[in-house]
Amino acid sequence: MDQFYLGTKILIGGGLDTLLAGKQRVLIVSDRFLVDSGKISYVTGGLDRAGAQYKVFSDVQADPDISTVTAGTAMLLDFQPQAVIAFGGGSAIDAAKAILFFSAKQRDMHDVLFAAIPTTSGTGSEVSRFAVITDRVKEVKYPLVDDGLLPDAAVLDPALTVSVPPVVTADTGIDVFTHAVEAFVSTAHTDFSDAAAEKAIKLAYHNLLNAYRSPEDLEARQKMHNASCLAGIAFSNSGLGLNHGMAHALGAHFHIPHGRANGILLPYVMSFNAGCVDGLTPTAKRYAQISRLLRLDSSSVRQSALQLIRTIRSSMEKLGMPSTIRDAGVTQAEFEADVEAMATDALADRCTATNPRPCTKEDIIHIYHRAYAGRLL
Ligand SMILES: NC(=O)c1ccc[n+]([C@@H]2O[C@H](COP(=O)([O-])OP(=O)(O)OC[C@H]3O[C@@H](n4cnc5c(N)ncnc54)[C@H](O)[C@@H]3O)[C@@H](O)[C@H]2O)c1
Ligand SMILES: [Zn+2]
Repeated sequence: MDQFYLGTKILIGGGLDTLLAGKQRVLIVSDRFLVDSGKISYVTGGLDRAGAQYKVFSDVQADPDISTVTAGTAMLLDFQPQAVIAFGGGSAIDAAKAILFFSAKQRDMHDVLFAAIPTTSGTGSEVSRFAVITDRVKEVKYPLVDDGLLPDAAVLDPALTVSVPPVVTADTGIDVFTHAVEAFVSTAHTDFSDAAAEKAIKLAYHNLLNAYRSPEDLEARQKMHNASCLAGIAFSNSGLGLNHGMAHALGAHFHIPHGRANGILLPYVMSFNAGCVDGLTPTAKRYAQISRLLRLDSSSVRQSALQLIRTIRSSMEKLGMPSTIRDAGVTQAEFEADVEAMATDALADRCTATNPRPCTKEDIIHIYHRAYAGRLL
């Protein structure tokens, strides 16, 4: 049986005040930059006007870890809010999800409203049943996957993303593209997840470069915000794939931002999934369909799939992103010391389970090596 679930009400362009009407105790989960820069007033302004009490948990760092979640859970259980607002990128939203998840093990949270307000266009976490938490000691990123992690509401306001610096726009934008491509070829994809993924792919392909080059281009920002959310809807239903499994391990070992890790690996994982080297797979046809969608296709399935892979590579170049693990600053010695452990973690990662081509640990080590040295074929 297939199913497609949309659990989150999406408010486009604003609507937070209406959402919070009558809520007298609100916990806000955010990061230090968004608080110190004053951007948090997007949430606190309305609460001040309404005379509501609120607390801000601002200790979320990039790739939230277990100790952050423990501290946030203690604050929630102590403050007993009627609503929790996650305000920030995927890190703040994932931290809020995990805080709610672990709080729910200690008290009934059904009456607590949970709304997410993304300030980056990347993770789609505002509509996904995923949250990624890092264990810094073991150097592992764990995706939690549970319907209980879905926010009740998401506020999509692209004006919030105008201040995102180009390097973060590039990293998060490639994350959107990776979500949509992995959702489209996942073993659990459906016509419904395909529809969301296809639209996300088109929007990201046509708008990411504009958002990167002209940060104040509100139309490009809006399209990327929508693409991010649509890709989140797609993969929340279909799951992801090996690219995310490998990116989680790479990010946890070498502190490479999530989207950048995905972007570096994407051409190499796609080449493996398509069987570009050792015999075409059915996934090559799916990539060729994406090529056709973007008008990149050529006469053969192989060439169409390759054209998509090459286009992704050249887009990353235009976005100023590294195209190999080496270019991301990892030395050969560091890489060699960790590659086997990364492959073990990537194979065990929950995202890898819906990859279209079965893989072994040796396959993954091989792909990491190609992505280190930049050997596509
Ligand atoms: N839950 C999911 O479905 C899902 C999916 C993909 C990734 N993730 C996780 O999300 C995290 C990454 O999230 P992200 O890529 O959004 O990055 P992030 O949340 O770590 O933010 C990146 C940087 O951008 C800054 N920033 C955020 N909004 C800004 C704004 N409006 N203006 C200026 N700066 C701003 C932040 O302060 C931070 O320094 C990773 O931990 C990743 O594993 C989760
Ligand atoms: Zn991602």
